[in-house]
Amino acid sequence: MKKRPKLLLRHRAKEVRAMYNKKAVLLGIIAFIILMTAPFWLNAGREHKKLKLEKPQFEKECVEPIPWMNPGHMQLLDNWRNEVVRESKRDYTSEHFKVGHVNKKFKKSLTLTCLDCHKNKKKFCDKCHTYAGVKPYCWECHVAPEEKI
Ligand code: HEC
Ligand code: HEC
Ligand code: HEC
Repeated sequence: MKKRPKLLLRHRAKEVRAMYNKKAVLLGIIAFIILMTAPFWLNAGREHKKLKLEKPQFEKECVEPIPWMNPGHMQLLDNWRNEVVRESKRDYTSEHFKVGHVNKKFKKSLTLTCLDCHKNKKKFCDKCHTYAGVKPYCWECHVAPEEKI
């Protein structure tokens, strides 16, 4: 009579331990899978964020929206250059952004417009280009404001 409860208890303890062991193994496997695949998940969406590009402090909008600017900024700059150099057209009207009812206007200029907002070329343009493995040759002639002195 005395021993029974003890036995019962020991028995339950074993069961409980076995249950925890199973759980631990399962958790271990899940943790392992998460760890092994984490780099993929993290890279997919966040690599860009991890770059920590320096954004303009006061301005909230680019010349055009980001989904447009990201793939399109080289084409935009190419158009600007051609229009300025060949046609002397120096004013650009944003297709998307307005002040009141009037579309925003910008001077078509690599250094005086883009780098006026993106003041730190190194921590913005260069950082992303280095990551992407591109090296625009523009700076052989154009001089970024911060590099003037
Ligand atoms: C009026 C200020 C202003 C001007 C001028 C400007 N930008 Fe921007 N740009 C911004 C701001 C603010 C952001 C961030 C917007 C956001 O995060 O929603 C941005 C974002 C960007 C991005 C996307 C960065 C990212 O994290 O994906 C690129 C690329 C870019 N600008 C390139 C340019 C280029 C090239 C020019 C010149 C043709 C230019 N910008 C002119 C203010 C400006
Ligand atoms: C979020 C990333 C990112 C940012 C920020 C960025 N660029 Fe780019 N840029 C790229 C990528 C990617 C390419 C290459 C695209 C391609 O080859 O199709 C590129 C290409 C270019 C090119 C064409 C280069 C060539 O040789 O064809 C120019 C010019 C350029 N960027 C200017 C700028 C300037 C100026 C800024 C800063 C105001 C800037 N970019 C900011 C990602 C970025
Ligand atoms: C061989 C020298 C040289 C190279 C390299 C060069 N440019 Fe230019 N760029 C000029 C000259 C000169 C002008 C005319 C300046 C003017 O009339 O304001 C100009 C004008 C421009 C303009 C309009 C005016 C302004 O203030 O920005 C843009 C935009 C431009 N270039 C973009 C680019 C981009 C983007 C690249 C690189 C993909 C590039 N340029 C490479 C010499 C060069």
